This record gives sequence, C-alpha cells and structure tokens, in this order.
Amino acid sequence: MNTLISQIEQDFKSELSKIQDLKDAESLKVKYLGKKGLISDLMPRLKDAAPEERKSLGALINQLKTIVEEDVRVLFQTFLEIEQQKALEQERIDVTLPGRKKTLGKAHPIHTFLEQMIDTFRQLGFTVAYGPDVDSDYYNFEGLNYPSDHPARDMQDTFYVDPKNLLRSHTSNTQLRIMEHSKPPIRVVIPGTVYRNENISARSHVFFHQVEGLYIDKNVSYGDLIATLKEFWNRLFKKQIKTRFRPSFFPFVEPGLEMDIECSVCSGSGCRICKHTGWLEVLGGGMVHPEVLRNGGLDPEEYSGFAFGMGIERMAMLFYGVTDIRAFAENDIRFLKKF
Ligand code: PHE
Repeated sequence: MNTLISQIEQDFKSELSKIQDLKDAESLKVKYLGKKGLISDLMPRLKDAAPEERKSLGALINQLKTIVEEDVRVLFQTFLEIEQQKALEQERIDVTLPGRKKTLGKAHPIHTFLEQMIDTFRQLGFTVAYGPDVDSDYYNFEGLNYPSDHPARDMQDTFYVDPKNLLRSHTSNTQLRIMEHSKPPIRVVIPGTVYRNENISARSHVFFHQVEGLYIDKNVSYGDLIATLKEFWNRLFKKQIKTRFRPSFFPFVEPGLEMDIECSVCSGSGCRICKHTGWLEVLGGGMVHPEVLRNGGLDPEEYSGFAFGMGIERMAMLFYGVTDIRAFAENDIRFLKKF
C-alpha cells in the first residue's frame, strides 16, 4: 500500500510536468481527483491493510490528496493567467492611432442656389408655393391646353404612374392649382423636382429641379414679363446681364418666349458650353393662355398674367462652373465639399 501511494505521487508529478494545455489539465484533475479517480480509489483499499497501519496510511493518502489538489490549483491558476495575457494582447487598443474625423453636413449646392433664387424673387414681391410631384394628367397637361393627342406632349417624355397619373414633367403643373385656390393678384414662384424619361448624360437627367413663376392681375403685360425677368437675372448675378428673347411655343402661353443670357463662360465670344453661339438658353415663359385662365376659374377679359419656368441645375451649372449635371445627383462627397 505504501509503495502504491508513492507510485501514484511519482506518476502524478511526472504527468504534471508534461501538461501542455487546459484540456490536459482537466483530464489530469479527473484522473487523480475525480470521484472514480486514483486517489479516491485508495480509501476502500484501507480495509485490506493491517489494522495498526490504517491510521498512518490514511494520513498518507490525505497528504497525497492535499499535495495533488494544491498542484492542480496552481496549474489551473497558471493557465488562467496565460489566457488572460493572451486576451489582453489580442484586445490591445493603440491609443496613439489618430481618431476618425467627424464631418459636418451642409446644404446641397442645388438647395443653396435655389435659396438664392427664391430670395431674389422675394425682393421682387413673389411668395413661394409648392405642388405635388405625383399629379394627374389634367394638371400637368390637359388643363394646360395640351389635348391628349397634341404633339407638344412629345417635348417632355413623361413617366406615367397609371393612365391618369404621372410624375410631373414641369412645375407648370401647379399653375392651375394656385389659380383654383387664390384670387388675383397672384404672384408666386413654385420650386420643385420634375421628371422626364430622357437618356442620362452630362447635359440631361431623368429628374431635375425647376422654379416656376406665375403672376396674374389686372393689366399684366408682356412688358412686365420682360422687365421682371431682366431684373431677376441682374439681381441674381449682381451685375448687368445681357439678355435676348426669342419667340417660342408652349401650349399654355400665348405669346410664348424663350430667354437667353450672354454666355457667362466666354462672355459672348463663343465656346463649347454655349455651342459657339455666345448665348445660353435659360428659361421658357409667356403670357398665360386665356384657356388656362378659364380652366383656373379666372375671366380672361378681366385678368391677364405671365408665367415662366427655369431649370435650377442648368443655372447652378453656369453659376458654379459645373460641367456635368449628373454630379448634382451622385452624392459624391468630393464634389459636394467644393461648395
Ligand atoms: N414648363 C415649361 C418647360 O418646362 C417652361 C414654361 C413655364 C414655359 C411657364 C412657359 C411658361 O419647358
């Protein structure tokens, strides 16, 4: 029995020295200290020993048990420390790394430019109104004097939501809504997004923004339209802008016009931007058609008015010197940062 006890102790020591990892340590613990382990196994054998030796043998077994328990405790302690050390290494934070910079958001250039346009119109006595992006064919076309088979509809390739509703192709869709709900004098600008089924290129996009103008009162004349537009451009650019007006056709105005301003890139001498004409087309407008006034519930014998519409991206491109309209819709921070 004596030799068995010291043999177990020796075996334990030698096995202990070979332990590599926590798994080995677990099996060592079970082998020696487990319920059916080598040491527990010793106790029942005491009854086979001579009665006078039992006491000292029992003490020896207990001594062995204490030694093994202590060694196992130290062993686990060691592994625990190694694990902790590993975790500390892996989760180490390099406090000397530079932090991530938070960038402040700001208004989109189209928005900023629109604000400037609206400010300028406010100076001229206009208020601001809004209309729906999704509208009926009536407000966008039919009520504006476009019969359903009118070829002028081809000027604006339209996205239809269903046969009766569409994404507005121009902010002119809001003209009749304003007339229906207000009494002259009406003097509003209507900014908003418009949609056209066009090929996306550097010069055109499927959605862009317009500002519509509508002025209705007694005795509003073509001269008022010209004067208002000229004044608007001079104020917006804060200098005298050379303009020219060309006759044009839109079903909802009569007479209709288009306005050009002298090319701001080449000062009129001709360049790629103005296609070597020295002029840039900036808006369409005209005197509100009597039929449209009637559709809006106004008597054309009593009232007259003018309307105009201009593309905001087109203007912003000139103003900021941007050569690709797509840049405004791409949300590329490198582009947006420039403003
Ligand atoms: N709605 C026209 C367009 O988008 C512009 C316009 C507005 C013309 C008002 C005349 C009067 O081309």
